[in-house]
Amino acid sequence: MLADFSALPTALSRAVDVARRLLAEAAARHAPVTLASSMGAEDMVLIDLVARGNLPIDVFVLDTGRLHDDTQALIEETRAHYGLPIRILVPDQGALESLLAEHGPNGFYRSVDARKACCAVRKVVPLGRALAGYGAWITGLRRAQSAARAETPAHEWDDANGLEKYNPLVDWSSDDVWDYIRAHDVPYNPLHDQGFASIGCAPCTRAVAPGADERSGRWWWEDGGSQECGLHVAGDRLARARPAGEAE
Ligand code: ADX
Ligand code: SF4
Repeated sequence: MLADFSALPTALSRAVDVARRLLAEAAARHAPVTLASSMGAEDMVLIDLVARGNLPIDVFVLDTGRLHDDTQALIEETRAHYGLPIRILVPDQGALESLLAEHGPNGFYRSVDARKACCAVRKVVPLGRALAGYGAWITGLRRAQSAARAETPAHEWDDANGLEKYNPLVDWSSDDVWDYIRAHDVPYNPLHDQGFASIGCAPCTRAVAPGADERSGRWWWEDGGSQECGLHVAGDRLARARPAGEAE
């Protein structure tokens, strides 16, 4: 696959340059490097950039056991499209059985604590396993996604997980993401066409009205929650922020 970005509008091609530079920097300085993919639109852009740049960065998905069928299908499609082995991590069986015994299958609707316990077993603990042995990880976080993400740096030391963390799309708008996807025919989750701005687990994600906060369809029943699952909160709080695109 050729790294041809000539069809992109100028502002987006600058954003692509920054993202490519950050990905290349992570690969050169912190190997081995892994990309965390929820198979959402941002992560599909990152997978495309990694594939086009032929970068030595592998990809993993935390399969919580509650993902949409469309997300599972996109994992299959992406493997075939890019010829990419996507690593799939699942929750620990014993921890999952204990969670189900204590809270039942859908306990996350009853309390924030039960929701956090579910996210811990299904996402946060497996994330630790996914990152073990790596020097850096890549995420699709963007500042515009929510107020809680407004200070996210392009590159930070992730103290919670003990490795470098790169967020190459941190300054991208939602339009940038979709312009890139259309310009390069990047595969994406069809749920986005049904109003899902942000896609997580099926029971905890719903469509939002056009123009609504991007993450308002996540854990929508929680009052005043931060709409975060714990994958990123600690890292963001401890971030030594640097301006987007500025290498150390
Ligand atoms: S989150 O609350 O689920 O983490 P979001 O869906 O906005 O928020 O994802 C932000 C970033 O976290 C993604 O771009 C991706 O890098 C990582 N991520 C989220 N969910 C997963 C998942 N299931 N597997 C791997 N990475 C994930
Ligand atoms: Fe559990 Fe919902 Fe968190 Fe998925 S998003 S891990 S189903 S609480």
